[in-house]
Amino acid sequence: MKVIRTISELKQELSTLRNDGKSIGFVPTMGALHQGHASLVKRSVEENDVTAVSVFVNPTQFNDKNDLKNYPRNLQADCELLQSIGADIVFAPEVEEMYPEPDTRTFSFAPLDTVMEGGCRPGHFNGVAQIVSKLFYAVEPDKAYFGEKDFQQLAIIREMVKQLEIPVKIIGCPIVRENDGLALSSRNMLLSDEERQRALTISRSLFASLEYAKSHTLAETKAFVEDAINSTEGLQLEYYQIVDGNTLQEIAEWEDSDYVVGCIALFCGKIRLIDNIKYKEVE
Ligand code: PAJ
Repeated sequence: MKVIRTISELKQELSTLRNDGKSIGFVPTMGALHQGHASLVKRSVEENDVTAVSVFVNPTQFNDKNDLKNYPRNLQADCELLQSIGADIVFAPEVEEMYPEPDTRTFSFAPLDTVMEGGCRPGHFNGVAQIVSKLFYAVEPDKAYFGEKDFQQLAIIREMVKQLEIPVKIIGCPIVRENDGLALSSRNMLLSDEERQRALTISRSLFASLEYAKSHTLAETKAFVEDAINSTEGLQLEYYQIVDGNTLQEIAEWEDSDYVVGCIALFCGKIRLIDNIKYKEVE
């Protein structure tokens, strides 16, 4: 496995492989890797000749300076994990390499980026689009892998490659959870034991709501999850929205869509967590 620091070296390495007819899979990450990231990398290793993984904490997508400062970083452990699951290239640039000058591009993915995370984290998806487009231009992957954990991000990346006409196939991968249900996240390691226990209410209430939804209206089901979060000490709900999985717009009745996803964001102490659940899925 090669660890590469510059775009020019990355391009050189990949063009040799591409000229040899190798297909390239790509997994962008911000490091502090866990089994959720590993599931994307393993899928890429299965489906491509070469797998490149980027590890870069992208400053332009953080709307909260403290969140950026406290974001966990551990490149050595990341490389050990990536090597053990068969990644071929790790691209770990410095900030100056990706942003030699400020990126002034502004994107609009309306209405996908105006709701949920778009509303709560101004500029977040613009920063995500800046870095992911730069990475796509550098790597030119055949396929790129994203987790459904960040459901809205996945929808926005699909829209971005359409708008920018980037010829890459975007593959969405299912959420990986701890045995007790908590969705894996790099931010989980910032939770105290007590907060970790409280955070369990998130996945528990989402899963319980699947059953509840069978005999209740959409509004009742939304309230069911909201009540579960609001009645747990230490959790502060930002939103729970039940949306059309393609447009990400809230729907009023179960019948309004055949692809229905509930998306949640909340603070557990000072740590912001997100999760989601599918009520109805298109085949
Ligand atoms: P990061 O949070 O490191 O996540 C990298 C990828 O791993 C994303 O596609 C995310 O959805 C996926 N992922 C995280 N936790 C997961 C889980 N429990 N199950 C399945 N997949 C999971 O998302 C980002 O980084 C950044 O915004 C990035 C796209 C790299 C741009 O900077």
